[in-house]
Amino acid sequence: MSLRRRLLTLLSDGEHHSGEALGAALGVSRMAVWKHIKALHELGVDISVQRGKGYRLPATLELLERERILAAIASPCAKAISDIHVHLEVDSTNNWIREVALNGAASGTVCVAEMQSAGRGRRGRTWVSPFAASLYLSLLWRSNCGAAALGGLSLVTGIAILRALQSLGIEGAGLKWPNDVLAGTDKLAGVLIDVVGESNGPCALIVGVGINMNMPGEAAHAIDQSWTDLRRLDCDTVLSRNELAGRVLTELIPVMELFEREGLQPFLDDWRRYDLVSGQRVDLLLPNERISGTACGIDDGGALLVNTRDGRRRFLSGDVSLRVAS
Ligand code: BTN
Repeated sequence: MSLRRRLLTLLSDGEHHSGEALGAALGVSRMAVWKHIKALHELGVDISVQRGKGYRLPATLELLERERILAAIASPCAKAISDIHVHLEVDSTNNWIREVALNGAASGTVCVAEMQSAGRGRRGRTWVSPFAASLYLSLLWRSNCGAAALGGLSLVTGIAILRALQSLGIEGAGLKWPNDVLAGTDKLAGVLIDVVGESNGPCALIVGVGINMNMPGEAAHAIDQSWTDLRRLDCDTVLSRNELAGRVLTELIPVMELFEREGLQPFLDDWRRYDLVSGQRVDLLLPNERISGTACGIDDGGALLVNTRDGRRRFLSGDVSLRVAS
């Protein structure tokens, strides 16, 4: 375990700890403790210092832990997980998985991080990823279904997220094509699929899941769409990120297996049931065009159907951004 992680573990009770006591526990000088505290500050960790009392976090902190995530995964799925890598900070968990995939990592490798310095959303957007505030998780899945299946994969991953939330008693969230989990009109979670490999053959799929859990106000200023998090939905009982990571993997693994075998077909009824946008007026932003119409759900291939002035049109997810018209 890195020294910074050990330091955070010592501070995670939310109590005061003197620099001297921390140094003694870690086997380093008080000055070294101070330097690490400063580095953690720079990552956005809110550690206060009080003369005579020492350092303290504003509240207790549950750090991500491989063993606790594994304990929260239902046993049939645990077999499909080859390893879980927990990081204090990465640029993006999807980028991290991409690197290890290129170096031969096994299918079922998982990466979670306390924060992402360059979290990525769809279409080049930033995914705001402050320290210990949310779940940032990526799964490597080696597959023969080819990159062409990607559109469908982001739809079924949304279903896995909803099922994970439901298993924790969180009802009422739904889906917005192609990759959003919403509560009402606010974004609660998103899916980013990357792929390394061929369009029609063996490839490494990288399934990235971000779920907003307890977004601090300062970080939220940087979010450029309407959003919510589990705390705002009053889901205080499920604010364990380890538990949520385990539940997401428990739902995601069987979804990946079934999608690989049978494609989108077995998921269509569920997706249509959870579709929050069907029947609503929408605007679609394409690279060179803006289209308005009424959303009519998805076809059996996962394409969005929209009734426009020029008749019914179908859209594949690639470069399309969907907005519910105000
Ligand atoms: C979106 O809705 O635009 C997709 C958001 C996906 C965010 C997750 S967080 C974990 C993984 N790593 C990333 O950099 N992005 C995804």
